[in-house]
Amino acid sequence: MILRTVAEMRALVRGWKSVGQVVGVVPTMGALHDGHLSLVRAAKADCARVIVTIFVNPRQFNSPEDLAKYPKTESTDLRMLAPIGADVIFAPPPEEVYPPGFAANVSISGVAEPLEGALRPGHFDGVATVVTKLFGMTLADRAYFGEKDWQQVQVVRRLVADLNLPTEVVGCPILREPSGLAMSSRNARLSPEARAVASALFTAMSEAALAIRAGQSPATALPRARSRVLKAGFDRVEYIVIRDAETLLDWTDASRPGRLLAAAWLDDVRLIDNIGV
Ligand code: PAJ
Repeated sequence: MILRTVAEMRALVRGWKSVGQVVGVVPTMGALHDGHLSLVRAAKADCARVIVTIFVNPRQFNSPEDLAKYPKTESTDLRMLAPIGADVIFAPPPEEVYPPGFAANVSISGVAEPLEGALRPGHFDGVATVVTKLFGMTLADRAYFGEKDWQQVQVVRRLVADLNLPTEVVGCPILREPSGLAMSSRNARLSPEARAVASALFTAMSEAALAIRAGQSPATALPRARSRVLKAGFDRVEYIVIRDAETLLDWTDASRPGRLLAAAWLDDVRLIDNIGV
């Protein structure tokens, strides 16, 4: 079943909740792949009812061109979801989410500011705003997010804590191709040659994480990883850093979990990845 309006969505969920069913939501922008499906499976394992939202959120894109380039594959998405057994797909049109006169903005400081926040101004405001709305529209008890977007998960956790939203955030592990390349809707834009190069990002990051865990200093391991990625054929490395896994600030306290995060360009495609250290 596919629903397009908030009123229908809420009516359905109210029925479920009236009989005590736990409701999970998996927010997506469509162009689904196995990484997304793994979130739906995780939600199915935990929740009596599962909603998958498909909404390409204009407010989190940095340019109209980037938004225009985003793949829209609704009928394929629905076919992929069918065997997994989500109870409903919520795919509202833009004007249902942002009606005329819409004036709200949810902005998270701190954890949303570095890395993706600095490189993509306004991106996390767009994410925080739409996630707040999706939680309100679906009334979900639990929401499933992929660690592929590590900083996004930390931003959403902060949002939920600070605004006392009654939705529990569940982070799910990154699904990868056999080569190690993290699955992403953007991988479809890589040529076969670039796809072979792309796995070098994860290989270099894994090696750096291993070396750092074994005591090598990040000042040695990170430049080495950067040069490996470039030597493999990437055009540009935007960042390859270790940060505190939760705050995304510098990792100065080694007793706290650290996270190695990277963004790099290949073939006009921006790839991101992360791994624990
Ligand atoms: P989208 O990029 O469609 O991703 C939807 C969810 O799938 C996110 O939680 C993302 O982290 C997760 N995901 C993507 N690739 C994954 C992989 N390889 N393994 C595991 N999970 C993966 O992220 C967004 O949409 C949007 O910002 C959204 C949260 C929907 C708000 O608009």
